[in-house]
Amino acid sequence: MLRRIMASPPLVICLGNVVMDHTFRVEDIPQPPAKIAARSYTIGPGGMAANAAIAVVRLGGRAAFWGRVGEDLNGEPLAEALAAEQVDVSGLRHVPGGRTPVGAVLVDPRGERTIVSFRGSGLGTDPDWLPLARIGEAGALCCDPRWPEGVAAAAAAARAAGVPVVLDGERSETRLLVDLVPRIDHAVFSVPGLANYAPGRAPEEGLRQALASGPVRVAAVTQGERGVLWMAAGDDGATRTPAFSVEATNTTGAGDVFHGAYALAIAEGMPVARAMRFAAAAGALRARDGATPDRAAVEAMVAG
Ligand SMILES: Nc1ncnc2c1ncn2[C@@H]1O[C@H](COP(=O)(O)OP(=O)(O)OP(=O)(O)O)[C@@H](O)[C@H]1O
Ligand SMILES: [Mg+2]
Repeated sequence: MLRRIMASPPLVICLGNVVMDHTFRVEDIPQPPAKIAARSYTIGPGGMAANAAIAVVRLGGRAAFWGRVGEDLNGEPLAEALAAEQVDVSGLRHVPGGRTPVGAVLVDPRGERTIVSFRGSGLGTDPDWLPLARIGEAGALCCDPRWPEGVAAAAAAARAAGVPVVLDGERSETRLLVDLVPRIDHAVFSVPGLANYAPGRAPEEGLRQALASGPVRVAAVTQGERGVLWMAAGDDGATRTPAFSVEATNTTGAGDVFHGAYALAIAEGMPVARAMRFAAAAGALRARDGATPDRAAVEAMVAG
């Protein structure tokens, strides 16, 4: 096992959402609604698990994306875009009659964004076609909660194979997160995601609830410019890994890149505190540049 990891970079399987993102840079998001001109426009792959997969490759790992797109105008270009990023898309299913998730992202001059998203339709929930036999090749599995049946199946296979599972605990229904968290090893929430998971609880209490819910080893919440608050099983209290100070231009996807970087760090065997710092640097660079950084940039930031 060790020899194989040393011979080639570790594989991170990213399972969940891929979205065709249309990003518009605007002066302002007007109220009341009006016609406005965009300063610029880009189109490209987004979605939590897809962004995480791209981050894994940029940071020197190997990535495979497992998920679904529709056989529509957006499906094939998304597959091509992921493949162009060197992400293995053999586990990306093109579903006949399905409609691919799409996002409209409005970014203001401060880098803050408003997102309209269509979550897709007719993509099917049955995970039976997933190539679960391949899970043993991976150093980590990184999931988002947009395809819970897929997470449940892949996480069970990963656990059986001794592969650590990271969940991006993003904004989702409470019952869904409560069901998924006990199936995984590293629960890394966003602020709204943790509020959905543990409504009305202080962040540290929410993290404790996740650790107590099952074999969860690490629970964390990413808090943007405040960095990440995390706790490992057996810890007395939570630890804060501060954010790296950057001037943000576009915070879209910083959390997704954080998760990809964290999963790769775990796959490489980094201790949790180091993995948090590594991932925080990757998230900060993504927020600064609006683009996913490479390994050298992240290492330089971590080194200070
Ligand atoms: N403006 C910023 N400055 C420095 N670091 C940042 C900034 N925004 C994000 N980060 C880093 O990236 C991590 C993840 O970002 P954040 O908490 O905003 O994710 P999120 O809420 O899941 O958002 P999204 O999924 O939309 O990217 C943070 O914990 C932090 O370490
Ligand atoms: Mg997020």
